[in-house]
Amino acid sequence: MGKDVIIACDFESAEKTLAFLDRFDGKKPYVKIGMELYYAEGPSIVKQLKERGHRVFLDLKLHDIPNTVKKAMAVLSTLKIDMCNLHAAGTKEMMEAARKGLTRADGTRPLLIAVTQLTSTTQERMETDILIEKPMEAVVSQYAANAKEAGLDGVVCSPLESPAVHHACGNGFLTVTPGVRFADDEKGDQARVTTPARAKALGSDYIVVGRSITGAQDPEAAYERCLKEFVDSI
Ligand code: C5P
Repeated sequence: MGKDVIIACDFESAEKTLAFLDRFDGKKPYVKIGMELYYAEGPSIVKQLKERGHRVFLDLKLHDIPNTVKKAMAVLSTLKIDMCNLHAAGTKEMMEAARKGLTRADGTRPLLIAVTQLTSTTQERMETDILIEKPMEAVVSQYAANAKEAGLDGVVCSPLESPAVHHACGNGFLTVTPGVRFADDEKGDQARVTTPARAKALGSDYIVVGRSITGAQDPEAAYERCLKEFVDSI
């Protein structure tokens, strides 16, 4: 599986998203549609981006009882998305149900990955707010192992945890990693962050980059910089 940069299109409308992508001079980056854009525009934004030739990661992070998630995934399976996700905290049973719901009648399905711990969560908040007292890396590795047992394709985690996930689940198990910033950027609300070059060295399969590209003066140049650091450089 080739490494790639996924741009988080965290915009409030299709209009803003398409205007942003129009700045990419003929290039068709892999894009992520999150809750904001999907709740604003619904399935039509997925269709429009697919028609324009983009690969689409639909980041809706489902988390509910297994039957509900299974049925919701069956609806998402009718969209031509390339990747979608759910929260591993929903349990193995929920993840298995999701995989079954997402699988189309012909046996095909988009990639399905599980969010481990959000990259905005610190060790301290995990301990005090949600009473998980194990080290972050152990929690992420356990959630990844659960996702693998449920037949999923990979996890969302911080690049800092990619080595532990690959160690626990094998190199073929995907790590999709947000929490990426250039060395000279602000962290924003993210906690477990690193640079594209470091994410590559740590073995991430995909980096998800939002504000470092969408907020840049020249988004195309920032995207190229990500590609250069993450995909091209040694
Ligand atoms: O702007 P920034 O690069 O921080 O954007 C990161 C994107 O990745 C956001 O769209 C966020 O919702 C998403 N994400 C994340 N952490 C996760 C899963 C998804 O930051 N664990």
